[in-house]
Amino acid sequence: MAASAADRTRAAELRQALEYHNWRYYVLDAPEIPDAEYDRLLRELQDLEALHPELQTADSPTRRVGAPPLAQFAQVAHRTPMLSLNNAFSDEEVAAFDRRVREGSGLAEIEYAVEPKFDGLAVGLTYENGCFVQGATRGDGYTGEDVTGNLLTVRAIPMHLQGEDVPRRLEVRGEVLMLKRDFDALNAAQRTRGEKEFVNPRNAAAGSLRQLDSRITASRRLSFFAYGIGAWDDANPPATHAGVLAKLAAWRLPVNPERRVVTGVAGLLAYYRDMGAKRTALPFDIDGVVYKVNDLALQDRLGFVARAPRFAIAHKFPAQEEMTVVEDIEVQVGRTGALTPVARLKPVFVGGVTVTNATLHNQDEIDRKDVRVGDTVIVRRAGDVIPEVVAVVPSRRPHPSPQRYVILERHPVCPVCGSRVVREPGEAVARCTGGLYCPAQRKQALLHFASRRAMDIEGLGEKLVDQLVDQGLVGNPSDLYRLTPRDLAELERMGEKSAANLSASLKHSKHTTLARFIFALGIRNVGEATARDLASHFGSLDALMSADVERLVQVRDVGPVVAQSIVDFFLERHNRTVIQALRDAGVTWPEGPPTDLAGGALAGKTLVLTGTLPGMSRDEAKAKIEAAGGKVAGSVSKKTDYVVAGSDAGSKLTKAQELGLTIVDETGLLALLDGKRQ
Ligand code: IVH
Repeated sequence: MAASAADRTRAAELRQALEYHNWRYYVLDAPEIPDAEYDRLLRELQDLEALHPELQTADSPTRRVGAPPLAQFAQVAHRTPMLSLNNAFSDEEVAAFDRRVREGSGLAEIEYAVEPKFDGLAVGLTYENGCFVQGATRGDGYTGEDVTGNLLTVRAIPMHLQGEDVPRRLEVRGEVLMLKRDFDALNAAQRTRGEKEFVNPRNAAAGSLRQLDSRITASRRLSFFAYGIGAWDDANPPATHAGVLAKLAAWRLPVNPERRVVTGVAGLLAYYRDMGAKRTALPFDIDGVVYKVNDLALQDRLGFVARAPRFAIAHKFPAQEEMTVVEDIEVQVGRTGALTPVARLKPVFVGGVTVTNATLHNQDEIDRKDVRVGDTVIVRRAGDVIPEVVAVVPSRRPHPSPQRYVILERHPVCPVCGSRVVREPGEAVARCTGGLYCPAQRKQALLHFASRRAMDIEGLGEKLVDQLVDQGLVGNPSDLYRLTPRDLAELERMGEKSAANLSASLKHSKHTTLARFIFALGIRNVGEATARDLASHFGSLDALMSADVERLVQVRDVGPVVAQSIVDFFLERHNRTVIQALRDAGVTWPEGPPTDLAGGALAGKTLVLTGTLPGMSRDEAKAKIEAAGGKVAGSVSKKTDYVVAGSDAGSKLTKAQELGLTIVDETGLLALLDGKRQ
């Protein structure tokens, strides 16, 4: 069937695109698209050319293995070409490969040497009389770049081969790569230096090896695994690929321990699944496994077709990186109130599942990657790890360019509860200040509230809290105290006995201490020890609630950041409402004089409030007195030091007059608070 005009246009487009991406990948070390996308484009062109051979051109990327080498390095002609492997993406394609090998060999069953497909870059290392003399990259497969000086800095590569019968001349083929932990460390260092981070370990390895200054290469930790040979000038080389690798290992070349010898398709697929399960736990990235006919004589007989051997194939894993479009950016409110920006993606199959969301972590990450709505991005999902946006593909940004995304501009208030959102200076995350009121934070807050060192509500675990919140029975901690044994008994996995037990422990928890109660509130930055210090410093909750930053920083170990968290927490009306509801439900604790306020203006004094003060509520007056070290009593006695009387004062005032106590009005109280004796 002759190619249509549309086929011709498409083939030309594909050649152009593949050449462009070849250049980005091989020459610049800065690929724009994930490998999976490249593979697909290449496959599409291969299929088109297979269907219409007249579309093949002499310069088609399907005829080439890589791109021309960089001009700056000396060129090395490979004595044996460094070819590439065909890929299999399914069990059927593996079975077809095995069938071709069996048919080509006339054997009923084939033995294979199997190994990981390292995600790095191929090099050939030449040893003469056991000495490392030259190292080259693959380049276009026939001519590579001389990177001897750089490879000398890779410590895994031996400078001398040790042991028996080392050939006069040996070319080892293998993969240079960067271990995941070295990659993480390198990127952390790049971040602190304010330099650009690498997208993945493969790019980092390539960028590090192809440095004209080998001191830079030396400063990066590169690794190497040998997986074959290019030349072996020896009378009797081993008979199998496994034998070759064993020899290389014996001469102290690094050979990967995950290699095996298996038989038939079943053996191949079992290895594939085994490595697939191990993939994320391995210290280096692999993008599949490689199957090679073990018998070297048979390898020779099978030979090559076009760019790849007939005796070997790469069985690829589902790609961990794919490309898709950011349709929107939303924020999710986590259990600690942190607003996490999430990219809503055009669905894409990556890492074995369809991904529609990817985390953007926080504002700094959005800024660093400059992700905007409408951008085409590379998405990564490795194992069970949450999918993330790795990078934007700049050439695919829409015109006109979309706006930068700033969380605080889009979300000045929490999208879940409407409370203010704040981002403290020096903090990476923006947070909802809704605390106990915010449903997103509710479950976590409830679990914390009920925990052993807080209110110690025995039997209130995660499963129950999930049910209570999901069924709308509990919105905030005070609702817990409204639950009847019958409400509880109706919950899943709740017998009458455990309902009664929980009911009892709820009741029991109402009698607590101020320190536990403060800790239970879940104020940011207020742990158990700080809660204890606050309780003894202020003596009462009201005194704590009305304290400003200046007063709070007087508490041991409380700095401006903690003080501000406390002020913010009590400033939020919702939090005050919940606290009042808890008190109304009967949660109590003994309040004492503030121990650390012995020097306060009203230290050791007992005051009684009666009537209405013109300028402050009774609670405010009480808080002020307590903050100054005084105690507020409910009734007048001989021990009362001052009676504060407002309008409509009743029997307490009469009694105070009878006892001859000092009576002051609001102005008098303010003077007392200022340290003036009456
Ligand atoms: S054997 C004639 N074994 O995959 C084929 N290659 O597409 C020689 N690779 O350029 C390659 N791990 O960079 C072989 N265990 C392995 C490999 C491996 C990774 C890379 C290598 C090569 C590409 C082939």
